[in-house]
Amino acid sequence: MSILNVKNIKKHYDVKTTFGSGGLVKALDGISFEAKAKKTLGIVGESGCGKSTLARQLMRLEDPTEGSITLEGKNITSFERAEYQSKIQMIFQDPYSSINPRKKAWQIIAEPLLINSNLSKSDCKEKACEMMRIVGLRPELANRYPHMFSGGQRQRIGIARALVQQPEIVICDEPVSALDVSIQAQVLNLLMKLQDEMGLTYLFISHDLSVVKHISDEILVMYLGKIVEYGPREQVFENPLHPYTKALMNASPSLSLEHLGKHEPLQGELPSPLNPPPGCAFHKRCPIATEQCKSVEPSLEMKNDRYISCLEV
Ligand SMILES: Nc1ncnc2c1ncn2[C@@H]1O[C@H](COP(=O)(O)OP(=O)(O)OP(=O)(O)O)[C@@H](O)[C@H]1O
Ligand SMILES: [Mg+2]
Repeated sequence: MSILNVKNIKKHYDVKTTFGSGGLVKALDGISFEAKAKKTLGIVGESGCGKSTLARQLMRLEDPTEGSITLEGKNITSFERAEYQSKIQMIFQDPYSSINPRKKAWQIIAEPLLINSNLSKSDCKEKACEMMRIVGLRPELANRYPHMFSGGQRQRIGIARALVQQPEIVICDEPVSALDVSIQAQVLNLLMKLQDEMGLTYLFISHDLSVVKHISDEILVMYLGKIVEYGPREQVFENPLHPYTKALMNASPSLSLEHLGKHEPLQGELPSPLNPPPGCAFHKRCPIATEQCKSVEPSLEMKNDRYISCLEV
C-alpha cells in the first residue's frame, strides 16, 4: 500500500550567472514515485542530481515549482505544520552540524516534543531517555553535550530525535556517509531494526548503491533531476538495465568487485543542471548512445519489471 505519492515534481531555481544573465537550475524535473508503507525506497545518484532537493520538497521546507505530493491520500500542504512534522521526519548526513552543540543530548532528542506537544518538561525528558535506550545509547548520558559523543553515537542521537514523535515516514539523507565503514553497518542495522519495530517507511538517499542495497525494497536512480531507472531491489541489482545504473554499480567500492568488467565505468563529469545537454541528458557519458540520443529525450516507461528512461534499452 502506498503512503506517499509524488506526482511530477519539479523544482527550478532562478540563479544569477557570472555574466549577469539569469539562468534556471532544474534541480528536479518531473519526478514521480510512490513510497510503500513500512518499506524502504532507496534513492541513488551522483552528487548534484537533486536528492536533497527532493528531500526538502517532501519535508515542506520548500515549495515545488510544479507537481503534487500526497501523504495518505491528502495533499501535504493541507496538513497543519506541526501535524505534518509529527508524521514525517528526517535524518541528516552530518550528525554534528544538524544538532545544536550547546544543548544536552536529551534536549536535542526531546526538542520536537517540547515544541509540538503539551507534555511537561520532565515527561519530555523521560521520553528522550526512553528513545536513547531504543537507539542503543545509555540514558545516563542524557546530560552530556554532542561533542562528548562519537560520530556513530551522534547519529544515534539524530535518529532518536527523528523518531521521538513516532513518525510514519523517515527521510534518511546520506545518514551513514560521514561515518567510518565499521560504524556504517551498525547504524544501518539499527535503522532496519527500528523500521521493523515501529513500522516505519523509509526514503533512503545515498550516492552509493552498495549502501542502499541491503536496506531497500525498491530502488530509484536519479540523473540530473530525472528518474532513469526505478524498480524492485532484486531486479535492479541483479539485472541493471540503464547504462547509468550499470556505471554506478562499477563506481561503488564494495559492489565493483561483483560488477567489475561487466559494465562500462562512468566517464566524464555530471553536466551542469544549468545547461543540460539536449536529448538524453546522459548521452555524452553513455557507452551505448546513438545519434538519436543526442536529440530525442527519452521518457520514463515501464519495461518488463521496472521503469526505465532510455531509447536503447
Ligand atoms: N537553493 C538553490 N539555488 C540554486 N541551485 C540549487 C539550490 N539548491 C540546490 N541547487 C542545485 O540543484 C542541484 C541539485 O542539488 P542537490 O543538493 O539536491 O543534490 P544532491 O543530489 O543532494 O547532491 P549531494 O549528493 O552532493 O548531496 C545542484 O546543481 C545544486 O547546485
Ligand atoms: Mg544532498
